[in-house]
Amino acid sequence: NTINKGSVSWSSPSNIALVKYWGKKQTQIPENPSISFTLDNCKTITVLDFVKKETQDDVFSFEVFLDEIPKPEFHPKIETFFNRIEAYLPFLKQFHFTIKTKNTFPHSSGIASSASGMSALALCLVSIEKQLNPNLSETEFIQKASFLARLGSGSACRSLEGDLVVWGTHPEIEGSNDLFGVKYPYKVHDNFKNYQDTILLVDKGEKQVSSTVGHNLMYGHPFASQRFGQAVDNISKIKLILESGDLEAFIALVESEALTLHAMMMTSMPYFILMKPNTLQIINRIWSFREETKLPISFTLDAGANVHVLYPEQYTDDILKFIQDELVAYCQNGHYICDKIGFGAKQL
Ligand code: PMV
Repeated sequence: NTINKGSVSWSSPSNIALVKYWGKKQTQIPENPSISFTLDNCKTITVLDFVKKETQDDVFSFEVFLDEIPKPEFHPKIETFFNRIEAYLPFLKQFHFTIKTKNTFPHSSGIASSASGMSALALCLVSIEKQLNPNLSETEFIQKASFLARLGSGSACRSLEGDLVVWGTHPEIEGSNDLFGVKYPYKVHDNFKNYQDTILLVDKGEKQVSSTVGHNLMYGHPFASQRFGQAVDNISKIKLILESGDLEAFIALVESEALTLHAMMMTSMPYFILMKPNTLQIINRIWSFREETKLPISFTLDAGANVHVLYPEQYTDDILKFIQDELVAYCQNGHYICDKIGFGAKQL
């Protein structure tokens, strides 16, 4: 099949891990399995235009725009990504690519766009492959896109499908593997349907520790092997929780995972504190509110100061009121984003 030019487009969401991935081996292989909620509103929309080069050469040729503005500062990351995936997409050097991307969340929100951005780009590239090789099945398509997204940013491989995705080999999760994310294959209790995630933007600055640096901190970390073992155990536990709908156990597991992620950063060498004073204010207030009201509100964290407030949809009115009345005061410029569990990427 020869194709000279075309355009493909995907929207792909962000995701928030419940059991965290922190620590990797060579070539983006995770040290432990992780599981995440796919988000719905926080997403990247990417249009990829491609045109056959006039003369074939041995370099990657592309330009990148974010919100229609050229972003030469993104080039090294994409060059690295293309180098990693070229073996799996042999057409890569035959085309010139124009990558036009935008996020539904503000760029400087402290929300990492790497998961949504890398998964959207990987999906666009596999769409081109599909045009060249129409035999690619639906399953092969999604697995390959997740595999490639992983090579861009590990957690990106969990963004293509929803509403729960597992990445990393686990003996009790059928199909789980280190190379690509798989949709959680078991029945999930109604308590977790439409789970809400209100993201409180405590600090919208650049990440203090890049995830590459962060993962590397787990090499020679004094608690590394215990942590990796704990994540395996927590996947077993969350499997039972997701089936039974035990919200109390869910809250304990998810909050412990968030604090453990931060504990790993506080106990590495060099060490980092990625929470801000307002992160702790919010956590303490969530705990006292839960004590007072008995509502199943909980939090999780990424590798930064922002807080993801998680709760079942049926409590949205009460919890959103609490967030607006009390927690928003701890957010930078009062900013927060209402999101919920979503169902993955869409071709546009
Ligand atoms: O995908 P990366 O390399 O940016 O790593 C992200 C890791 C965490 O977001 C902190 C946890 C996770 O599992 O998503």
